[in-house]
Amino acid sequence: MTFIVGDNCINCKHTDCVEVCPVDCFYEGPNFLVIHPDECIDCALCEPECPIGAIYSEDEIPDGEEAFLELNAELAEVWPNITEMKDAMPEAEKWDGEPNKLEHLER
Ligand code: SF4
Ligand code: F3S
Repeated sequence: MTFIVGDNCINCKHTDCVEVCPVDCFYEGPNFLVIHPDECIDCALCEPECPIGAIYSEDEIPDGEEAFLELNAELAEVWPNITEMKDAMPEAEKWDGEPNKLEHLER
């Protein structure tokens, strides 16, 4: 089991989540964060920290976001680790709740 970061994080990237992770398993791309599934210990601390509800348990992934399970695993292998909170993306407020942001993912 793992937690994953889902669609709503794209172009928002608040980063509150990284501050609470006891095993530092978040990895950062240009406009999205992912969780390394082999490092996550399922503590659930990060889920309520995300101000826009973009983190889910693997067994509670919303319909239509199934691809994010594999995407978290794939990108966690290539993106750098992030352990400290930073400013959200400049247009985070505007992007919160926009549907299907995957096409805007930058790698
Ligand atoms: Fe880190 Fe716990 Fe969230 Fe997994 S569930 S990413 S271990 S804070
Ligand atoms: Fe993304 Fe929420 Fe973390 S927007 S960076 S999952 S706090």
